[in-house]
Amino acid sequence: MTVPTLPGQATGRADGRPSLGTQLLRRKPLAMMAAEADAGTGGPRLVRSFGVLQLTMISVGATLGTGILVILGESVPLAGPAIWISFAIAGLAALLSAVSYAEMAGLVPVAGSSYSYTYATMGEGMAWICGWCLVLEYAVSVAAVAVGAGQYVNEALAVFGSVLPDALSQPPGDGGMVNVPAVVIVLLATVLLVRGAKESAWINTAIVAVKVGILLFFCAVAFTAFNAGNFDPLLPMGAAGVSAAASRVFFSYIGFDAASTAGEEARNPKRDLPRAIMLSMLIVTSIYVLVAVAAIGARPWGWFDGTEAALVKILEETTGQPWIALVFAVGAVLAIASIVLTVLYGQTRILLSMSRDGLVPQVFSRVSRRTGTPAAGTLIIGIAVALTAGLVPLGALADATSIGTLFAFALVNVAVIYLRRARPELERTFRVPLFPVTPILGAFMCIYLMANLGADTWITFGAWMLVGVAAYFGYGRRNSKVAALGGSEHLDVPAANHQS
Ligand code: ALA
Repeated sequence: MTVPTLPGQATGRADGRPSLGTQLLRRKPLAMMAAEADAGTGGPRLVRSFGVLQLTMISVGATLGTGILVILGESVPLAGPAIWISFAIAGLAALLSAVSYAEMAGLVPVAGSSYSYTYATMGEGMAWICGWCLVLEYAVSVAAVAVGAGQYVNEALAVFGSVLPDALSQPPGDGGMVNVPAVVIVLLATVLLVRGAKESAWINTAIVAVKVGILLFFCAVAFTAFNAGNFDPLLPMGAAGVSAAASRVFFSYIGFDAASTAGEEARNPKRDLPRAIMLSMLIVTSIYVLVAVAAIGARPWGWFDGTEAALVKILEETTGQPWIALVFAVGAVLAIASIVLTVLYGQTRILLSMSRDGLVPQVFSRVSRRTGTPAAGTLIIGIAVALTAGLVPLGALADATSIGTLFAFALVNVAVIYLRRARPELERTFRVPLFPVTPILGAFMCIYLMANLGADTWITFGAWMLVGVAAYFGYGRRNSKVAALGGSEHLDVPAANHQS
């Protein structure tokens, strides 16, 4: 299949360049995306090797993280024994967007995830904003997650009576100089990703099996101390408490969209991407609800107030075994490793798509003939994330990742509505149920959760977006390939023929 050549120089200005308005609203044709995904853009292309198992594990790997290990201490005091309902509500909020992701991923199975969906529906300006938000969701958040490695490595070493000094396990600002465990984990993940996506996916699958195993082990032990009386009364903090806790635990669902960045490496993306996204949501929500029920069954809800690492404490107290702390610390380091691996993977694929469109430098879309991966781009991102995780106190910027993530989710819901109206004839391997109620609710839910975040976080997010707008005008606007093709509406040629 060849990339369609697109006619015309229908621009808004006499000098041949499109006017700003034309360029910002210019959409990338679905047919062009499909052709690039199938044939690449001339050089070597990504290798299609993932089945539904690896795709599901990419999403579970990116989602099931350190959040669940620590979040009960913060959220049980808000909700009381009904915390498991909060997990179910947050899961439902995530599910509303997940079904939209599933429909779009089945329809536009490319590497760019929501950035590409936005480019096809809302045009270049919004696509750039979405892509810039995804850098928050992926690169910045992965650096923030990696930072936790220093603490967990020390907890594991403490069992043997020795720890790394703060200077080597904490970033500057937290009393250290460089967070060596964070740098090592990010660099190891980078090397793996450069060597091959297939190998990385298998290693991720193995790590996910271990982290799921540890959480199930927790449930099995905690259920031996189960006391049904701990659930009475169920709602001591009322419905408002349950909903406040749902906002808090939403963080633990972030990452389910990672499989949607693997559209060009899946063997059967149209069938498997929607399945992987839905399956991963099911797995993660079930585990979270089970962990919440097991934890409350084991301890009265008041016990969680101010208890850090509640899961480890329950295990230690129930079994009386000090080595439990070691198992959990190792599990946490592995959880961080698989988040780093999968989220870094997603970031490289999103940048690959943006680079193909000319919005970021070409180096990010250069696929290595030897490894079939975007090796140079992966190295650049890996080193940047390693330095950020090791040296930069991320603080406020890490908090802003939720806004960026929710904004991208909201755009995917809008994209579903737009394409159902604009291109009803396209073949959809997964359809959002109860359309249009589901994506409208999904978008509102995202906006509601965004509005709940504090003013400081919004200011940081605003500053991040200003940098993004400057980058667009400094680079993307001049180098956009879609803009250079000319035309706008007429470019959106029927995609059905190109999406085999
Ligand atoms: N969902 C990820 C976690 O819980 C970010 O760590």
